[in-house]
Amino acid sequence: MTALGTEQTHPSGVDQERRLTTPIPGPRSMALMERKVAAVAAGVGTTMPVFAVRAAGGIVVDVDGNHLIDLGSGIAVTTVGNSAPRVVEAVQRQAEQFTHTCFMVTPYEGYVAVAEALNRLTPGAHDKRTALFNSGAEAVENAVKIARAHTGRHAVVVFDHAYHGRTNLTMAMTAKNMPYKHGFGPFSPEVYRAPLSYPFRDGDLDGPTAARRAIDVMEKQVGAANLAAVVIEPIQGEGGFIEPAVGFLPALAEWCRANGVVFVADEIQTGFARTGDLFACDREGVVPDLIVTAKGIAGGLPLSAVTGRAEMMDAAHAGGLGGTYGGNPIACAAALAAIETIEQDHLVRRAREIEALMTERLRHLQSDDPRIGDIRGRGAMIAVELVEAGTREPDPALARAVAAAAHQQGVIVLTCGTYGNVLRFLPPLSIGDDLLDEGFDVLADALAAAR
Ligand SMILES: Cc1ncc(COP(=O)(O)O)c(C=O)c1O
Repeated sequence: MTALGTEQTHPSGVDQERRLTTPIPGPRSMALMERKVAAVAAGVGTTMPVFAVRAAGGIVVDVDGNHLIDLGSGIAVTTVGNSAPRVVEAVQRQAEQFTHTCFMVTPYEGYVAVAEALNRLTPGAHDKRTALFNSGAEAVENAVKIARAHTGRHAVVVFDHAYHGRTNLTMAMTAKNMPYKHGFGPFSPEVYRAPLSYPFRDGDLDGPTAARRAIDVMEKQVGAANLAAVVIEPIQGEGGFIEPAVGFLPALAEWCRANGVVFVADEIQTGFARTGDLFACDREGVVPDLIVTAKGIAGGLPLSAVTGRAEMMDAAHAGGLGGTYGGNPIACAAALAAIETIEQDHLVRRAREIEALMTERLRHLQSDDPRIGDIRGRGAMIAVELVEAGTREPDPALARAVAAAAHQQGVIVLTCGTYGNVLRFLPPLSIGDDLLDEGFDVLADALAAAR
């Protein structure tokens, strides 16, 4: 088993300790940043101005030799750890055999095996089928295509604070204008937005009542008979790690079932052990008709999937789904190795241990810091919402300042949220407790310094 406790080395040889050899960014990163600015489109931003050369366990090493604590996992992707041993071995073996044939031309077993694994692991014991794609957004688009083909209806309902991607349809589905949508319209039609359950900002609205509020919008503004799909992240990612109140998701799923609407769970960020369950829907026993996965599925290789009820998945005509690279053989080999790692190394349990450590540290900080308005999330997907002390007024400047101070001290931390005031923690599940603790020491100092 890889480093889970206090080991200071890692099988990869990457020392598991924070080590700053230069200011952040160092001279080599600064030189590369100059080349980036001259060569890469300005719209492709970076969170930190450092360039990576290696990563393993809970550490990312930059070109200047700085060892950074990774509390981001490349936005929830390297759940099994960076260059996880089984993934590396599977990728090497597959690359030597063949790199591409196109599954739609001459298929290969790896694709089928990934489909079988997803059909086995995703919620629900019903007959399932899977189709593979490259990115999360592409899979979300395909889930909508499948729902439309199955129902013969057009409308799609999404939620406040949602994030589903940056393609044209998924920009329409994403809530936040800046930076995701601004100036990029017009957007795809027939996308409607319903209110979410957001316990920190909803007062005492309970889950079923919040669901009723959303259902009213669907019934009055869209009409169930026009509605192909309801698409929802069981815990919102970019929107601020918003976890709906208990009972919200089951009530929505139930309404969808009663009205012939396809209930789609976007588990791109929450899937594959991240939230302390294999899938976030498992916690309340919600069984989505279609589930969309990506990110943690393949240890860092680009792969995404739509998995769901056989009769829905089979509604699209032959040739209607697919793409040149979807289910690339190397990505499939990586996915099988990542899934084996999750199962063999008990990473669902590890995510819950990480949750306990992170929330304990954060609750301690919150006990004498009224700027920490809310601590939420599950597993290794935890966030704090920062507010002006003692109020619910978002404080994005504080989130920016704390993240920047943590970056300076060699800790990779991401922000998110509609109001930009959320710090989110998404460590790889291969991180050791010592590194996690140290990361939160740095964070505590950064919060104190920003008082
Ligand atoms: C919930 C959710 N849906 C969709 C996407 C889009 O995935 P991708 O960036 O792979 O297109 C993301 C990415 O952050 C996500 O978190």
